[in-house]
Amino acid sequence: MKTITVPTSRTYLVKVGSGLLSTLGAEAAAVSKASRVCIVSDSNVWPLYGKAAQESLQCAGFQPVSYVFPAGEASKNGETYLSLLNFLAESHLTRSDLLVALGGGVVGDLAGFAAATYLRGIDFIQVPTTLLAAVDSSVGGKTAIDLPAGKNLAGAFCQPALVLCDIDTLHTLPEDIFRDGCAEIIKYAILFSPELFTLLAQTGLDFPREEVISRCVELKRDVVTEDEFDRGLRMLLNLGHTFGHGVEAQSGFTVSHGKAVAIGTAIMARAAASRGLCSSADAEQMLSLLKLFGLPTSTEYAANQLVQSALSDKKRSADTVNLIVPYTIGDCRALPTPVSDLQSFLEAGL
Ligand code: NAD
Ligand code: GLY
Repeated sequence: MKTITVPTSRTYLVKVGSGLLSTLGAEAAAVSKASRVCIVSDSNVWPLYGKAAQESLQCAGFQPVSYVFPAGEASKNGETYLSLLNFLAESHLTRSDLLVALGGGVVGDLAGFAAATYLRGIDFIQVPTTLLAAVDSSVGGKTAIDLPAGKNLAGAFCQPALVLCDIDTLHTLPEDIFRDGCAEIIKYAILFSPELFTLLAQTGLDFPREEVISRCVELKRDVVTEDEFDRGLRMLLNLGHTFGHGVEAQSGFTVSHGKAVAIGTAIMARAAASRGLCSSADAEQMLSLLKLFGLPTSTEYAANQLVQSALSDKKRSADTVNLIVPYTIGDCRALPTPVSDLQSFLEAGL
């Protein structure tokens, strides 16, 4: 097992290893004086891991209740959120009680936002069961739900009390969803770590789970420790996301987030090379790694369609968009790009 300390406004541990779900109760007791615990999960994850989570909490003396909602992004909305808050109130959870988010990023974001707001904030533990949640969404304290106007438009920064990542739960992930998480792992390698990049190029999909997940968590930890509230450095984590969001939106969300990020990263690599910001050899290596992991690197959508989506991104400021550009593997920088130049930048990467 690897343990990573995240020293943000609240300091917490991220534990990554095999068999950790059975330790949930003992780990929860170490960080919380709760008597009641609400396990929040979705309709795919609960049948697989709900019982183990419940039993572990019971053995440690907690009284667990559970709230399970239909799996999928469509549930990450105001209706599920309010229904969960009502369930917490009806279950008489108090301010000293605890939420456990057992699932992928949808569960983590929704449960985290409920924890951030129920009774003006109660503690929660993230138990990520997708690769994406393990390396990204469970760490760093961004919680949110979607609004009809867009994704993640209502949310809060709220750090968990603990993140417990049992890598055994990844065995039941459909391969396609596993690959989505791989796009985020490749993102960390391109952003910060030539060593991780080389390792991934050697192992492909057979990368050592505990080592790579914990390395990604360390890399994210370093970013969120310096910029917890997303005012500067943290924007680097959006590598591949600006145009990736465009692909996701244009497809009506039939292209998954991970695949869209892979396409967005490929666009940035090609555009950076075409503009002389990155060597062609480096860009080619980035594209090859995405392909090695079975991820897509191109899109059928036209530049003007993708630009429209980029312009409606909530992170846009004034007349510029911060594009995250790979200069080389391990060195990416935000490039404030005038809106008027966005389309030609994108065209260079298509
Ligand atoms: P998800 O939570 O929808 O999980 C994907 C699918 O896998 C679901 O059908 C789920 O039921 C299933 N699943 C989960 N764990 C499983 C397991 N172990 N075995 C079998 N099936 C399992 O999606 P995701 O990709 O984990 O997360 C995407 C969400 O994360 C998006 O809403 C995105 O906005 C959010 N996100 C948040 C942050 C953040 O910093 N808070 C960062 C990135 C993404
Ligand atoms: N996933 C981006 C962030 O946490 O900032």
